[in-house]
Amino acid sequence: MSKTSAAITAVGAYVPEYVLTNQILETMVDTNDEWITTRTGIKERRILKGEGKGTSFLAINAAKDLIKKRGIDPKDIELVIVATATPDMKAASTAAFTASEIGAVNAFSFDMDAACSSFLFGMSVAAGYIESGRYKNVLLIGADKMSSIINYKDRATCIIFGDGAGAVLFEPNEENLGLQDEYLRSDGTGRAFLQATYGGSSYPITFEAIEKGAHCAFQEGRTVFKNAVFNMADATVKILERNNLTKNDVDWLVAHQANKRIIDATANRINLEEEKVMMNIHKYGNTTSATLPLLLNDYESQLKKGDNLIFAAFGGGFNWGSIYLKWAYNS
Ligand SMILES: CC(C)(COP(=O)(O)OP(=O)(O)OC[C@H]1O[C@@H](n2cnc3c(N)ncnc32)[C@H](O)[C@@H]1OP(=O)(O)O)[C@@H](O)C(=O)NCCC(=O)NCCS
Repeated sequence: MSKTSAAITAVGAYVPEYVLTNQILETMVDTNDEWITTRTGIKERRILKGEGKGTSFLAINAAKDLIKKRGIDPKDIELVIVATATPDMKAASTAAFTASEIGAVNAFSFDMDAACSSFLFGMSVAAGYIESGRYKNVLLIGADKMSSIINYKDRATCIIFGDGAGAVLFEPNEENLGLQDEYLRSDGTGRAFLQATYGGSSYPITFEAIEKGAHCAFQEGRTVFKNAVFNMADATVKILERNNLTKNDVDWLVAHQANKRIIDATANRINLEEEKVMMNIHKYGNTTSATLPLLLNDYESQLKKGDNLIFAAFGGGFNWGSIYLKWAYNS
């Protein structure tokens, strides 16, 4: 009897309209387009504007896009997971609100946060529910309004991040397509180098913290960069070796979009041709939990049933890893 695997069967996405270009950033902090482009590969990012609009606004729109494209009835959705590092509120689940707003009234839902690896780890969680046989579909949304925790006076951080959301549907597959293997890791000593210090339970928000911008994301870029390059490449190599894959077996590298140089380093480590590397960092920047599903959405029309996709991500925590997934449909 063949084992039931968990496949991605639909994709949707949403990015806000406002485009924050490098040229606009030049008027906000001491930076320039040439520096940003050569150091990160980013040309522009999307920012969500509007009073009271949070991550759920992005998540709801991405989910609605998927529901419309796939033509499913939201009442049939059984579980909604919102992978995010920027939930709407501290105490109320963003996923519960999202599920209600999209009409997934028969689903249970929860948020999960592993910083920039939230969606990658979310794939593991979503697939596990399907593989268990207890659920027949899981809607996994990666969404972040990073602009809500960015200090637009900190030039080392504000140039990198943007807002956006992507959604995928996981369903059972009997042809052994879908998630094949995963290599996921965490190292809590990394939190010194990438964090938003104030606003959580260790350091509740204060007036002083807000004045200093200490509720915003701070990073020691060089240390994060070195760890990201090493660990994303290492995880990718490990997943290939464990599955007896060579670079010729890889159809697509789906890597977290934090810095083009980090993505290139991962691709170079396995000698992968540039045309097999999904890339959209130039137009969205680092959207944290949304980078991987935004890539799938942008490249969906080029993906073929049976394609071997290697996902890789690295982020705050530190959290990182790689997932091997076989694509399950032609669009
Ligand atoms: C942030 C990052 C782009 C900086 O690039 P870098 O090449 O490491 O640059 P450095 O931090 O070493 O800074 C080099 C110089 O550029 C300056 N600089 C920093 N930001 C700048 C900006 N936006 N514009 C112009 N100069 C800038 C620094 O002040 C420094 O100047 P100095 O040499 O006079 O001190 C890079 O470290 C990075 O991408 N890190 C990982 C980020 C990441 O992935 N974060 C999310 C995790 S998922």
